[in-house]
Amino acid sequence: GTPSCLQQASSPCVYSNEDEYADLDWDKLGFGSIPTDYMYITKSAKDGNFEQGHVSRYGSVELNPAAGVLNYGQGIYEGTKAYRKENGHLVLFRPDQNAIRMKMGADRMCMACPSVEQFVEAVKETALANRRWVPPPGKGTLYIRPLLIGSGPILGLSPAPEFTFLVYSSPVGNYFKEGIAPLNLYVEEEFHRASPGGTGGVKSITNYAPVLKALANAKSRGFSDVLYLDSVNKKYLEEVSSCNVFLVKGNLISTPVARGTILAGVTRRSIIEIAQDQGYQVDERTIAVEELFDADEVFCTGTAVGVAPVGSITYQNRRAEYRTKSQSVSEELYVILEGIRRGLIEDKKGWTIEI
Ligand code: COI
Repeated sequence: GTPSCLQQASSPCVYSNEDEYADLDWDKLGFGSIPTDYMYITKSAKDGNFEQGHVSRYGSVELNPAAGVLNYGQGIYEGTKAYRKENGHLVLFRPDQNAIRMKMGADRMCMACPSVEQFVEAVKETALANRRWVPPPGKGTLYIRPLLIGSGPILGLSPAPEFTFLVYSSPVGNYFKEGIAPLNLYVEEEFHRASPGGTGGVKSITNYAPVLKALANAKSRGFSDVLYLDSVNKKYLEEVSSCNVFLVKGNLISTPVARGTILAGVTRRSIIEIAQDQGYQVDERTIAVEELFDADEVFCTGTAVGVAPVGSITYQNRRAEYRTKSQSVSEELYVILEGIRRGLIEDKKGWTIEI
């Protein structure tokens, strides 16, 4: 049902408890954009603080043609998810981590940013207002996309005079068309995703359009995604267009160290902790591309991607193949992560927020 606050602007927000589902074929979810009922929106005031936001009907936003985001790419985004537990309750996973990362990104991109509290509240309100779009347990999740843009007009190159923070959502299933089947990655040598001193370590919108070319080339050759190398030595692993990467060799799990050119993913960090708890040695380090040919297993992590096994990686006409069976390390770690999110494993780390 529609929360009463949305019918009457002045009344307090009371969400209905009825567990009504949107009319959707939950077995056919991919990672497309499915419009939901509401989005959260607020703008920065002159002092850089953000006004109290509210959820309103999902729809198009109007932008001045001179908006900073349209002309100079001043924008950052986040990705987080709402999960439905077996008992029907909704859970958010570490949204404070996304809020903190957005603050760091806003600082790098010279943008005003909502507080951590306001960010988390906005994510919560968006999830609750769209609760009928949160898929049944095991069928998918509600992907929540917080977006911060320079919405004010600016012609000369400088920060926009006004920023808009909005949060929208879409029910999603698997990110890749492969579903849960292992990914086949391609090591990109012509294009780079980031460079030292650039914005690769923050979730700037400007990190994403430039990789589309490499992604399109790889997809046309049947690969799932692209694995980038560092732009200085063209020798060390960085990340995949849409996710972080991990290598497993015996009891050692390695992932490229995040030093400004790699996005420090929330799923990456969570998997590192879970792996350490499980007794693995985890090294965040510089990983040479040649190590791909020596690994037992490779997997990817990300909010959208989840924890995805990699079946093969192609580098300079050589193809490395990996273990992907059910005894894999990635499966072991993923089951724990999902268990915490779904309320099947006790959340001793305080990662989940029931809403
Ligand atoms: C996410 O994992 O949430 C992302 O933002 C990656 C994006 C390419 C879908």
